[in-house]
Amino acid sequence: MNSWAAEVEVLIDAERLSKRIGELAAEIRRDFQGRDLVLVGVLKGSFLFMADLVRRIELPLRCDFLGVSSYGDETKTSGVIRITSDVSRPVEGCDVLLVEDIVDTGLTINYLLENLRARRPRTVKVCTLLEKPARRRVPVPIDYCGFSVPDVFVVGYGLDYRGLYRNLPFVGQLRHLEVG
Ligand code: IMP
Ligand code: MG
Repeated sequence: MNSWAAEVEVLIDAERLSKRIGELAAEIRRDFQGRDLVLVGVLKGSFLFMADLVRRIELPLRCDFLGVSSYGDETKTSGVIRITSDVSRPVEGCDVLLVEDIVDTGLTINYLLENLRARRPRTVKVCTLLEKPARRRVPVPIDYCGFSVPDVFVVGYGLDYRGLYRNLPFVGQLRHLEVG
């Protein structure tokens, strides 16, 4: 048994992640054929999803990254979002696909959509591995979504709790979450 098994209950295993990512990649390939596609990963949570997703999209594309921080505690956003590291090239005229780990309240994606739209890309769409519909505070368009998850704090496959668990090859739920 793995050492994390006592702490984390598996919600979405590696096989399901891989199968769903293949389906998303096929949809993206169909929709972005002949476009100037730039995937913009939101750091750090999206790094594994982004890496697996781009390898399945059989199209010429570019990869870029944005770093964001939101003031708040480890399990919920304050809604005050700040870009801590910006994309490396202008996105004007490009077809941007924002790649997120999870859309929770929607505040982060909402902020990033507004920010990126001001830079005049041709289109901006959203691809998220996970979403928690129960906690949405602002309506956000999600064009590609891997899985909906219940209102529990999830970790693994890029998602962290206090910086840990990002390297788990599956998405799981912490069995004992210390709140506060
Ligand atoms: P939002 O702005 O509330 O939609 O939150 C988005 C960000 O909060 C995500 O990109 C994650 O970094 C973090 N987040 C929200 N829910 C979870 C969770 O269950 N586990 C880990 N991180 C989460
Ligand atoms: Mg994130």
